[in-house]
Amino acid sequence: MAEMSALERWLVNSPFRAWLQRREVRTFLRWAKLSPDACVLDMGCGRGVSTSLIIEQLNPRCLSAFDFDPSMVDLARRRLARRLQDDSLDLRVADATEMPYEDGLFDAVFESGVVHHVPDWKAALREVGRVLKPGGRFCFAEPSRKKVRGFYRILPHAIESTFDPEEWQAALAEAGLRVEGPLRSMPLWDICGVATKNAGERS
Ligand SMILES: C[S@@+](CC[C@H](N)C(=O)[O-])C[C@H]1O[C@@H](n2cnc3c(N)ncnc32)[C@H](O)[C@@H]1O
Repeated sequence: MAEMSALERWLVNSPFRAWLQRREVRTFLRWAKLSPDACVLDMGCGRGVSTSLIIEQLNPRCLSAFDFDPSMVDLARRRLARRLQDDSLDLRVADATEMPYEDGLFDAVFESGVVHHVPDWKAALREVGRVLKPGGRFCFAEPSRKKVRGFYRILPHAIESTFDPEEWQAALAEAGLRVEGPLRSMPLWDICGVATKNAGERS
């Protein structure tokens, strides 16, 4: 599994990244149109900033978050200590290609900058399709292969885990996820949007 370089870890854990995440979570919540009764999954939550923003901006009935890196989950555990005292937040070390959740559990899955770290990134998208309820929303923000090779070239990334927008859309369709409208951009990412799990889709 690809690990982040020291430089990327520093950037991901910087105040600048936290500032951008506030905008991203607000945008995801606008796209997903969730009620506080929703069950939300924060995939690749890193140090838990996005998770705490989901609590601050929606406070969903149930919230799960995971990351592959135990040191990031430790940081998240400290940040979210108060919320972890009740049963409404589930935080774990887990792999996006083998999510420890039952089928059709979530109303929404959010992720920023995670899938391009996963060598078998299509398996991660299949897992998103599996854990979403029919009609559930997947809000994503990723860099394209072109962006990884250009803007992000000082950060080492395995080329097999990158994709272009067409490959991304095709893999979403294979996972039973239909993209709504054109792909969009955010400051760090050029493959952003929301996809809906097909109603009645078997995973
Ligand atoms: C660029 S960071 C993004 C972190 C956070 N989502 C953010 O927006 O700042 C990528 C994150 O993906 C996690 N990650 C990489 N591979 C993963 C996998 N297979 N399953 C879950 N998380 C993974 C890394 O540990 C890291 O926290």
